[in-house]
Amino acid sequence: MIEVWAHRGDSVHAPENTLKAFGKAVQAGAYGVEFDVQLSSDAQPVVIHDETLERTTNGTGRVVDHTWAQLAQLDASAGRPGFAGEPIPRLAEVLALLAPSGLWANIELKNSVVAYPGLEEIVLAAVQEAGMADRVVLSSFSQASVARLADLTDLEVGLLFEPNELIFRPWRRAVALGATALHPPRLRSSAALVRAARDQGLKVRAWVANRPAEVNRLVEAGVDGYFTDSPSTAVILS
Ligand code: G3P
Ligand code: MG
Repeated sequence: MIEVWAHRGDSVHAPENTLKAFGKAVQAGAYGVEFDVQLSSDAQPVVIHDETLERTTNGTGRVVDHTWAQLAQLDASAGRPGFAGEPIPRLAEVLALLAPSGLWANIELKNSVVAYPGLEEIVLAAVQEAGMADRVVLSSFSQASVARLADLTDLEVGLLFEPNELIFRPWRRAVALGATALHPPRLRSSAALVRAARDQGLKVRAWVANRPAEVNRLVEAGVDGYFTDSPSTAVILS
């Protein structure tokens, strides 16, 4: 079985990283939902991709410079018709939506630009509180955070890396950091990379494939799963 992960929720059919997008991913029958977590200025974990508010909300400035009470007032519909007023969700709300659904959660800690000290512990506490510890994969582009997560928990931890990131033998780096998974970008998810990572006992989940031909290439390369913005249409053809 190939894991199909809804990237930022079903972000083709609803605004990314909103409860509407996560609900649609559940309806689509995805294996899991991927989303991004940052901290408000008062250390509340919030689900939003960018470090700044402009692209996806009607706010301005950095997430980290706003309290949760301020962030809760914002419209995170990104101007998409039919979704006006859709808020930025808190981590706990997303986990509460997923808990009864049976879907997995991939919580990506967005801490490679703003460091968010304590984010690892805050996320782990929320996972425990939601009773989701048996259906969570944690991940980060921050190698320091991956190492910290691996120290703190037995949950699965994935190392992300960027398409243009110079990282020699990323599967070895992942193992050295204590990760149990590698989350490579689609264009670096070759059969050779997948084989090397799996030889190290790592799971491999590639991001992001939206067209069936892209999905097919990843499946042929042998990935365990892939992230897609449209879990209802990015299907495997062969
Ligand atoms: O976790 C996979 C993918 O979400 C990483 O990139 O920028 O979409 O968070 P990004
Ligand atoms: Mg992400």
